[in-house]
Amino acid sequence: MKKVVLSGMRPTGKLHIGHFVGALENWIKLQNDFQNFHLIADYHVLTTSLDTSNIERDSIEMAIDWIASGIDPEKSPIFRQSKIKEHTELHLIFSMLITTSRLERNPTVKEQVRDLNIENITYGHLGYPVLQAADILLYKGNYVPVGEDQVPHIEITREIARKFNSTWGEVFPEPEPLLSQFARLPGLDGNAKMSKSLNNAILISDEPDEIKAKLRKAVTDPQKIRKNDPGRPEICLVFTYHKKFNPEETQEIEIGCRSGVLGCVECKLKCSDKIAKFFEPVREKRKELELKLDIIKDILVEGEKRARKVAQVTMNEVHEKMMFG
Ligand code: TRP
Repeated sequence: MKKVVLSGMRPTGKLHIGHFVGALENWIKLQNDFQNFHLIADYHVLTTSLDTSNIERDSIEMAIDWIASGIDPEKSPIFRQSKIKEHTELHLIFSMLITTSRLERNPTVKEQVRDLNIENITYGHLGYPVLQAADILLYKGNYVPVGEDQVPHIEITREIARKFNSTWGEVFPEPEPLLSQFARLPGLDGNAKMSKSLNNAILISDEPDEIKAKLRKAVTDPQKIRKNDPGRPEICLVFTYHKKFNPEETQEIEIGCRSGVLGCVECKLKCSDKIAKFFEPVREKRKELELKLDIIKDILVEGEKRARKVAQVTMNEVHEKMMFG
């Protein structure tokens, strides 16, 4: 039997190219060797926003980006958390297996509280790694492709699995994180993270002229003011993009930038062309899919049926072990 990979994302609408590099590319590679489940974590959105008016549309936009990028829903079901009640059931049981002080020590949650200026964290927000543990263990996930920031949640998932197994008997594996080897792309403003909410992102769906316009404004080495000033590619986000999307010319660009032969304007133009070209097939596929929203909805319903079956088997096993009958 193939090992199970559980990957998930919160639905934030259209994805950016950082999502592609940091996550999707990895998922696509994994789909041949593992049984993958692709979760749209729509309930998780509630932890930071109660505005749910766009949640369905955002989930669909995200699914379109996944499929256009190469996720094959026939191989790997795509489904929404909110449509499979077993997530919330298992979450309730798991919430008895971990203390609040353990959850308060989670560095990722602490960081979020600080970054978002949250005065009083809600019970649900503090417990979101517990819901995440239910997401993973419901499908008996062995591996979870995540970024560094999610590793503490996987550790909590392992602790919960151990606690359940030692209390009621072996049901769950202890999942391991799979870190993607290419770290997230920096944002256009030089921020370490590309993010839609920081308004520093290039979207997968952006047209070539949008990419060009966005890159034109990207922050580069502040010491390179004129074309002939020598630049420092190691601190330039545009150079990071070149490394990813234009590997064949990276060396030449590095030499040109350092020696002052290559100016930022030209370097950015080259870079936008490469990014536009790289995502051309994804953009085309995306346009096709946008015209067939019924098909996307059917894909989700189908994925939900398949996921629900697996989830129900696990929940029955849980109830049996716990002697709920
Ligand atoms: N917490 C993840 C995030 O904020 C999203 C997520 C929810 C997830 N459930 C998951 C990721 C299960 C992997 C597995 O990005």
